[in-house]
Amino acid sequence: MTFFDLIPNDAPVGAEVRGLDLRAPLAESVVDALLRAWYDHSVLLFRDQDLTDEQHFAFTAQLGAVEHSPDQLLALARDDVPKDVPVKIGVISNVVENGKPLGQLGNDEVFWHTDSSFAEVPPAASLLRAVEVPNEGGNTAFMNMYKALETLPRDIREAIRGRRVKHDPTYTSAGVRRKEYEEVVDPSTSPGPIHPIERLHPGSGRQALFLGRRLSSYIVGLPVSESEELLDAIWAHITQAPLSWEHRWRVGDLVMWDNRCTMHRRGTLDPKQRRLMRRTQLAGERPE
Ligand code: SIN
Repeated sequence: MTFFDLIPNDAPVGAEVRGLDLRAPLAESVVDALLRAWYDHSVLLFRDQDLTDEQHFAFTAQLGAVEHSPDQLLALARDDVPKDVPVKIGVISNVVENGKPLGQLGNDEVFWHTDSSFAEVPPAASLLRAVEVPNEGGNTAFMNMYKALETLPRDIREAIRGRRVKHDPTYTSAGVRRKEYEEVVDPSTSPGPIHPIERLHPGSGRQALFLGRRLSSYIVGLPVSESEELLDAIWAHITQAPLSWEHRWRVGDLVMWDNRCTMHRRGTLDPKQRRLMRRTQLAGERPE
């Protein structure tokens, strides 16, 4: 039985889902079919969804447990907020009102990364909704990390076998240092959880490359110079290989991506054009 139309992208990752109104509660069979489509394509695009924050949260909650925002995850890890702090919606925006940024990441380019991999238990998914978009710029690209792993040259694949990577929270994905953390001088001694570099996706049963982000990354157990060399080789391969799909946003888009098997990046923004996005996250599991 088909509950919606699924149109795979002409690209190594992603598909568009048509024919669903995300404001309404979905039958369990529809949720199951959506999750299967998501495991198959890793990124799902839903167009023309005029959601309130409450509806955005309600849709997320139908798919699994709703996770805290990235800032809240970091504050929880530092014990800066009570364990039962209510989940807040994440805001990503370049808009500044009355001298105060409405959200995070500003106008900067946002480098390839996986959301919140600096958490011991990183979120499985991010669901980003476009409220205001610029005429140009601010596209978001997604990379297929199953294929990234499969296409690694044999010597690199051998070199990373059984290795683990430090996921340091010091810098945002735009490369800006968070004020709660010291500048990183030596990535082998910086903070952050350690996750396997290849992880098993529990939904698809497939292995994906799990890097987090390049800045202040570190392959545990190697001298820093060797870790840097190996990371450079991996990143050179994955950023040159045809592994990604770039999405040009329209107001009302909701894109749901799987942080366990994709990375994403965003282009720079024109400061004169407003961009306002709202994001929820789905809880994940400890990477294995
Ligand atoms: C993000 O990196 O999570 C935000 C992506 C975007 O602004 O499109």
